[in-house]
Amino acid sequence: MEVLIRDTPLEGAEVAAKVVRKKILEKPHPTLGLATGGTPLKMYQELIRMHNEEGLSFQHCTTFNLDEYVGLPPDNGQSYHYYMKNNLFDHIDLPSDKYHLPDGNADNLRQSCKDYERKIKDVGGIDLQVLGIGANGHIGFNEPTGSFASRTWIKILSEQTIRDNSKYFGPTEKVPYHVVTMGIATIMEAKHCLLIANGAKKADAVRKMIEGAVSASCPASILQMHPRVTVVLDEEAAYLLSAKDHYKWVEANKLDWQKY
Ligand code: F6R
Repeated sequence: MEVLIRDTPLEGAEVAAKVVRKKILEKPHPTLGLATGGTPLKMYQELIRMHNEEGLSFQHCTTFNLDEYVGLPPDNGQSYHYYMKNNLFDHIDLPSDKYHLPDGNADNLRQSCKDYERKIKDVGGIDLQVLGIGANGHIGFNEPTGSFASRTWIKILSEQTIRDNSKYFGPTEKVPYHVVTMGIATIMEAKHCLLIANGAKKADAVRKMIEGAVSASCPASILQMHPRVTVVLDEEAAYLLSAKDHYKWVEANKLDWQKY
């Protein structure tokens, strides 16, 4: 894993956006996997800035989001459809038929999960998958002890994730218990994964992901088996890593073409 540690979440967001930009410029028709939640917000703001001020174009991109709640209509303020439009898609030149999110309202949820997998395959797979990490080590909404072989499917959130996500919902709103999420096997097929984590609350999950045993108890630890992962951390999320100095030394000695 490539581990990039920055003093602040903002500096992390800037380098993460550069990773995305590099991928967009590298490929004529890049496919991006996208995440929601609090973590990637600053990176999306930086990508919007790059679009407005530097002419970064998303016109030839296709995107697939990791997950969506079951039962929230796309215009519900808590749905990930709404989040993506509000925080990214409405501010860039990505054509509206080029972005995809799992359909949490499909009449036939199981079929729509299969269709989602097929659509990803039809475009040749995901070139860069953006990920956050749950305090319990989940990626997408693949909670601890779920199968590493899982594919896009309907999952039930853990009680911890429901508590963690309740901060994004109003006091009278209920966090849905059910989600549709890309599976671990879907994520592992992305050619490059970019995982961002900030804050001390994520430090234990980050340590297990990078330096712990590969175990379904920490789903993100499977990324140790992926050939190309870039992890962007702020100092707080990195504070439990025992090889922190090594990761910084490796980054300081990168060859020019390896830098972002
Ligand atoms: C969101 C997702 C989740 C989040 C994770 C962290 O699409 O797949 O895995 O990345 O729950 O959420 P935040 O960033 O809100 O701490």
